[in-house]
Amino acid sequence: MKKPANTSVPIHPLLTERWSPRAFSHRPVSDDQLERLFEAARWAPSASNEQPWYFIVGRSGDETCQKIHDALVEFNQLWAKTAPVLVVAVSRKNSLKSGTLNTWHSYDLGQAVAHLTVQAMHEGLFVHQMGGFNSGQISEAFKIGDDYLAITIFAVGYAGDYKVLHPNLQKLELDERKRKEQKEFVFTSYFGQPLKLS
Ligand SMILES: Cc1cc2nc3c(=O)[nH]c(=O)nc-3n(C[C@H](O)[C@H](O)[C@H](O)COP(=O)(O)O)c2cc1C
Repeated sequence: MKKPANTSVPIHPLLTERWSPRAFSHRPVSDDQLERLFEAARWAPSASNEQPWYFIVGRSGDETCQKIHDALVEFNQLWAKTAPVLVVAVSRKNSLKSGTLNTWHSYDLGQAVAHLTVQAMHEGLFVHQMGGFNSGQISEAFKIGDDYLAITIFAVGYAGDYKVLHPNLQKLELDERKRKEQKEFVFTSYFGQPLKLS
């Protein structure tokens, strides 16, 4: 299913076509594709080039995937079971160089996931990120140390038929995608003053 963004001006098709499906097809994701996705993440920028990102990858049917799925909130469990790949995105809180808090650790992880998401679209794959999970359960299940934080879980796969979803989720899948107007978040002169572009 396609749900292209209704953009106010044309942007790159990879960005227009990206969206977060909940229905995934059974079509597998290859090792080569996964490697390219994480290579895209690898080349993301990061503060002081700390590269604070780490990923734990589960494939449908394996123990890792089951543990990841178990840690999701019930709502996400309902749909994420259709995804062929589930990934935990983890960031390292402290700088490897100074040992003090890296203020940008989760920001940098987010940039890495954004890069991965665009590469996924290039592969015809979709990414759906989730904040709805039990972080403590993930830390325990995967023996993640105190210096690290599981920030999100994301599903990767080919988009599937929305009718495979639980009836309560089918409407959500068909809902229109909405965004704020640029004038609500692009400012000049002072915070709140919209930047006018010709
Ligand atoms: C950090 C983050 C957490 C999210 N958590 C959830 C989640 O727990 N469950 C879910 O179904 N979608 C989740 N989403 C997906 C958003 O709801 C989705 O990206 C947003 O509605 C915009 O839709 P689009 O990605 O299709 O443009 C999350 C997205 C992000 C970036």
